This record gives sequence, structure tokens and C-alpha cells, in this order.
Amino acid sequence: MRFIILASTALALVQEVIAHNAFSKLIVNKTVTPDWKYIRNTDYDAYWWQTPIDRVFPYPTMNQQEMETTNMTCGRNAFKYAPYTYSAAVEAGTEIGFETWVCCGLAPGIWHPGPIQIYMTKSPSGKPLGELTGYDSEWFKVAYWGPIDENHWYPQDKSQFIFTLPATTPPGDYLVRIEHWMPLRPSYAQWYVNCAHITVVAPSTGGEIKPGNPEIHGTVKFPGGYQFTHPGISLPKEVQQTKNDDYTESIIFQNLTRFEPPGPKVWKGE
Ligand SMILES: *[C@@H]1O[C@H](CO)[C@@H](O)[C@H](O)[C@H]1NC(C)=O
Ligand SMILES: *[C@@H]1O[C@H](CO)[C@@H](O)[C@H](O)[C@H]1NC(C)=O
Ligand SMILES: *[C@@H]1O[C@H](CO)[C@@H](O)[C@H](O)[C@H]1NC(C)=O
Repeated sequence: MRFIILASTALALVQEVIAHNAFSKLIVNKTVTPDWKYIRNTDYDAYWWQTPIDRVFPYPTMNQQEMETTNMTCGRNAFKYAPYTYSAAVEAGTEIGFETWVCCGLAPGIWHPGPIQIYMTKSPSGKPLGELTGYDSEWFKVAYWGPIDENHWYPQDKSQFIFTLPATTPPGDYLVRIEHWMPLRPSYAQWYVNCAHITVVAPSTGGEIKPGNPEIHGTVKFPGGYQFTHPGISLPKEVQQTKNDDYTESIIFQNLTRFEPPGPKVWKGE
């Protein structure tokens, strides 16, 4: 009898936990680095609907209602972990990226439908990344993965998100922030956010490079820069439909090529 109860609890746990993701690994120099070495760890939280046994494995992810708080900057209480996060030296012009966490029943790849974007912000000179909250920083966008056709999203089931850091990136210390969200229902998107620490150094080849202007397309603040009413967050009915009005039934995406993500255009080095 006891065995049966435990088995069914374990099954419920796996089913619940697996629907979330976190980005724990930085990819640099074509190497996947250790979990949380260059990425700010976050607090884990149990949700009200978890049973006491499930609470042993709380979620390292955002709660849907936290879009307007400082947890939107780098994840739940991530600044607490900033002093314990290393900064990875990255040569401008090379590829960097994030890989998802495989732990505690989390899905090995992106589970939810939805886009991914990556932003960066430069630490003011003389301010170590371990002291930078990012709350008042101006963030510019460096990568975006959206829909691949009318009904599907590129990130789905993938675990690595890699982009080329422009060769013209001004040298210095940066926070690199990845965000993935599932547009669940109006004003209720689920957010998954993590931040890496990197130190950009000038390319070792190619001679003198004139620094670009990463803020040329505009910047955004986290929190504060995104509104629930943005059509990339609360998707209009022509784009997202559910079987019932309160959006608790499964979502059907359509006309996704009309999707416009929130935030400025991606900076490509100009
Ligand atoms: C951020 O998340 C933590 C952990 O879930 C929570 O305790 C805290 O209240 C949140 N912070 C804010 C500013 O909402
Ligand atoms: C990546 O490669 C560059 C150039 O060799 C090196 O300076 C840097 O330390 C490496 N970064 C990491 C995190 O290994
Ligand atoms: C959206 O998709 C539906 C179903 O494919 C289609 O009937 C409708 O015409 C589309 N609407 C727009 C505005 O593209």
C-alpha cells in the first residue's frame, strides 16, 4: 500500500516538475561550462498547489505573476548569488550561448511553446558584476528566436541557444540575460529568466576594431520595460486560441508569422 502511494506521488512529481526550464550553463569557446558557474543561481520556490512531498523539489523558475518585480531581471532573488558567480572571458566576434538545466525532473529541452530573447547590459566602469543588480540598467537585445511557421516556435524541444557576439562589442563586463516565456493567456505569461556574467575582450585577430553602438536600436529595463498588454506577451486571439475562454485548456497558436516580440530590434554590431 505504502509503495503504491509513493509511486503515484513520484509520478505526479515528474509530471508537474517537467513542465519547467532553467538556463544554468554558459556556452563559450564551443564548450558547455558547469551548471551555475558563470550563471547567477536563483532561489527555488514551492508553489501553493504542491503537496508537502513535492516541496522537496521546488522550482527554480519564475512565478507567472512576477513580471513587474526585480525577479524579472535575472530570476528569483538572483542578485543574492551574484558574488558567487564567475565572469567568463569572451572574445568579441565569437559565439556564446546558454544551455538548459537537466535536474530534478526538469525537461532537458524547452518544454513550453514560446520565444527566446537574449539581452546584455554593460557594467559601469569600476563596478564589478557581483555588485550590479541590473534593476536600473539599460538592456540591449542581441538575439531572438521566434516562430518557425504559423503554428510552431523555434525553441521548442531545443536545449542550446547560441549567437555570435558582434566583433564590435565594446570591451568590458556585461550581464547577459536570457528570457523564455510562454504566452499562456492574457496577462499571465510564464517567464524563465537567467543571467550570465561575461567579460568581453577585443578580438585577438583582425587588428583595430572600431566599437559599435549597442544601444542604437534602443534599450529596455527589467523590470518595467515590458507591459502585459504588449501583443507579444498577451497574444491577440487571431494568433493564440484556446478551447475555452479562461485559457486553461490547451493553446493553439496560429498566424504566428505576424508575431512581434517585445523590446528593441536585435543589435548586430552596427
Ligand atoms: C522573488 O522571488 C522570491 C522567491 O520566490 C520571493 O520570495 C520574492 O518575494 C520575490 N521578489 C519580489 C521583489 O517579488
Ligand atoms: C575563451 O577563449 C579565449 C581565447 O583563447 C580565452 O581568452 C578565454 O579565457 C576563454 N574563455 C573561457 C571562459 O574559457
Ligand atoms: C488566422 O488563422 C486562422 C486559422 O488558420 C484563419 O482562419 C484566419 O484567417 C487567420 N487570421 C488572420 C488575420 O490572418
